[in-house]
Amino acid sequence: MTQDSSHQHAATLILLGATGDLSQRMLLPSLFALHAENLLPGDFRLIGVARTDMDDKGFRKLAGDAVTQHLLRDRQNAARLAAFQECLHYRRADLDDGECLKPVRALVGDAAKNGIGVFLSIAPTLFVKAIAALSQADMAGEHVRVAVEKPLGEDLASSKVIDDTIASLFPEARTFRFDHYLGKETVQNLLVLRFGNMLFEPLWRSQYIDHIEITVAETVGLEGRADYFDSTGTLRDMVQNHMLQLLALVAMEPPNHYDADAIRDEKVQVLRALRGFTAKTAKTHSVLGQYGPGAIANSRVPGYTEDLGKPSQTETFVALKAYLDNWRWQGVPFYLRTGKRLAQWRTEVAIQFKPVPHSMFAGRGGKLEANRLSLRLQPEEDVRLSVMGKVPGLDREGIQLESVNLDLSLATAFGNHRRRIAYERLLLDFLEGDPALFVRRDEVEAQWAFIDTVRKSWKEAGMMPQIYDAGSCGPDASFGQKDVKNCLDD
Ligand code: BG6
Repeated sequence: MTQDSSHQHAATLILLGATGDLSQRMLLPSLFALHAENLLPGDFRLIGVARTDMDDKGFRKLAGDAVTQHLLRDRQNAARLAAFQECLHYRRADLDDGECLKPVRALVGDAAKNGIGVFLSIAPTLFVKAIAALSQADMAGEHVRVAVEKPLGEDLASSKVIDDTIASLFPEARTFRFDHYLGKETVQNLLVLRFGNMLFEPLWRSQYIDHIEITVAETVGLEGRADYFDSTGTLRDMVQNHMLQLLALVAMEPPNHYDADAIRDEKVQVLRALRGFTAKTAKTHSVLGQYGPGAIANSRVPGYTEDLGKPSQTETFVALKAYLDNWRWQGVPFYLRTGKRLAQWRTEVAIQFKPVPHSMFAGRGGKLEANRLSLRLQPEEDVRLSVMGKVPGLDREGIQLESVNLDLSLATAFGNHRRRIAYERLLLDFLEGDPALFVRRDEVEAQWAFIDTVRKSWKEAGMMPQIYDAGSCGPDASFGQKDVKNCLDD
């Protein structure tokens, strides 16, 4: 992405919550990968901060283990890892002590003038204290920017409190909200596909599109995050952020430029056009489920409450039929569907076009299927367009037509480019100060405003999660109910 001159690189990254799960699974391996490719500034330093008692040596070991465990083997390199570890430091801090970040500031020293990025990889309940401690340690100002990641609140009201807290020290231009889906290559490719080709955009509207499906099906369960997940649920864990961001990118009007404001201005328009749910539409336009015991890849897995160790009404599956009240998308359903412990791991955005207005082949027995464009994000990255073709033959018994795929496998087309962790891209953009792939406050608020209507509608309609077998395609209701399309059944 082009850099505008207002972007200043941050040479120092301060990672609060450096010993946590996100840090070990994603942030440290991504930073190593960037460092190994010389993409970080020459004077890059990472200062890990957490409550655990540890010294630099201990943190270097923790980071080394994290890289070894979580980065693909072919990206590991002992010499480069040692060089990366040299850039790592650690300071213990207890945020109950307002002065706790002063030693961190002392360690940064003169390098502060080369920019500081602060990543708050801590619970939002600690943000007030973290912001106060940053202020006390004189780490705010023009040269400091901050990164945060969900969960940013549990509803619109609490998200505003969190954002106000951050905004008390960091203006919006220096606040970077991570949604790791925006760091995924196929998500960015959606923009290129839509706005870099003449083929699709003229058809990208209610006249020609029947419906859009956004599916994030996972086979994983709780993955050791029981407390967080049980108090959050799938609607807030997945739909509020990743899925609505995908929806915004699919549905937005063409931005004038590839820059942060132009893109985010268009996304927020879409998010504000989401039609709120009511108790009546909740019953026909939504399904929520919770996985029971079952089997994944032929191995028995326990149900959610067994995983959790206590009874719970938290949903692990959500299907919604959503609408946008705007000119382009009037009447086009957006089927959002996501769940844990489903039959397959599959993340996909599918655009289902309408049938042709008249089939000239009908009288000769030819059956047409409407075109479908699928963008697969996971497990493979590919773009597939189904088009009708004629089955070769002499057609004595009628014309035989078949839907065939025009495939673009990104792995094959761009085979010499490695597939990266989404955080690599986002961490680099954060350190370079490019906000285009980060979520702006008004987007988050529009997302919450919609999600709040869904939660309220479930409550008013008395809807509870229906149990589905782990390893299945979700609750039976999501098959039977024609309004909530099952996206795993094609
Ligand atoms: C996270 C959610 O944001 O995204 C997890 O908290 C979910 O529950 C994960 O498993 C999915 O991300 P990805 O990149 O594996 O599709």
